[in-house]
Amino acid sequence: MTEIVTDTAAASGAAATEQFRSRQGSGVPGADTQRVDTLVTELLTATHDIIRRHKVTYEEYNALKAWLIRVGEDGEWPLFLDVWVEHVVEEVAGESREGSKGTIEGPYYVPDAPALPAEAALPMRQDETGTPLVFQGQVTSVDGSALAAAKVEIWQADAAGYYSQFAPDLPQWNLRGTVIADESGCFKIRTIQPAPYQIPTDGACGSLVATAGWHPWRPAHLHLKVSAPGHRLITTQLYFRGGEHVDDDIASAVKPALILDPKPAGSGNDHEVTYDFVLDRA
Ligand code: DHB
Ligand code: FE
Repeated sequence: MTEIVTDTAAASGAAATEQFRSRQGSGVPGADTQRVDTLVTELLTATHDIIRRHKVTYEEYNALKAWLIRVGEDGEWPLFLDVWVEHVVEEVAGESREGSKGTIEGPYYVPDAPALPAEAALPMRQDETGTPLVFQGQVTSVDGSALAAAKVEIWQADAAGYYSQFAPDLPQWNLRGTVIADESGCFKIRTIQPAPYQIPTDGACGSLVATAGWHPWRPAHLHLKVSAPGHRLITTQLYFRGGEHVDDDIASAVKPALILDPKPAGSGNDHEVTYDFVLDRA
């Protein structure tokens, strides 16, 4: 049974908001007036249609207004958007790709994780719990050629479902690393299998989930960004066959091509899996 995560919405929300802001800034440089007009007008028109169709009351309107205010106060806009909206943006962005499938980035990526050699263990605590996992593979171009020194950035939750830098009491770079593949594009990463991730239940998004009768879970996953010069970076996630919530991810981000099937290997409870990445040309 996975540990229940409590009291984390405000803290992880604030950290996710700050992380996003530091990478994105707050303006919209180069915004195309016409495009903003079209998209915002259509969004509002769709909202107006819903109100008319469902005869939305003042009580409901005010409940929505209060909830939206709370999403901001809890710092949960990154969480809300990445769980319920990002997967469609990714679907559209992925239409032009031939190589490996991508999926959502989510709110917990941090750039510049420590660089690691092609064969390495992710930074982890001495007593890190969880099933040990060797995750290995090769990065190639769509024409099959090996991509020497490809960059494999990996980040994941621990066996209790927590991400370093977004939950208290974890070493800064716990279970985060930037692995540089070898001259054949190969890598071999030692880590542990993460736990399913529960979106914070004590904030605005958690209250939406409870009120709508949904569940707050994402299946266990590894996050990756794989890149090489002259190629399109792919942002993806990998899941575990048979894992809880692989079939009902709250963030709708699972694709059949992204499900791993690790096999027992070596001693004890160790598992091993191979997954190769194919990058599109830039
Ligand atoms: C969220 C968390 C994740 O770990 C993820 O991969 C996607 C979304 C979230 O809490 O919004
Ligand atoms: Fe995640």
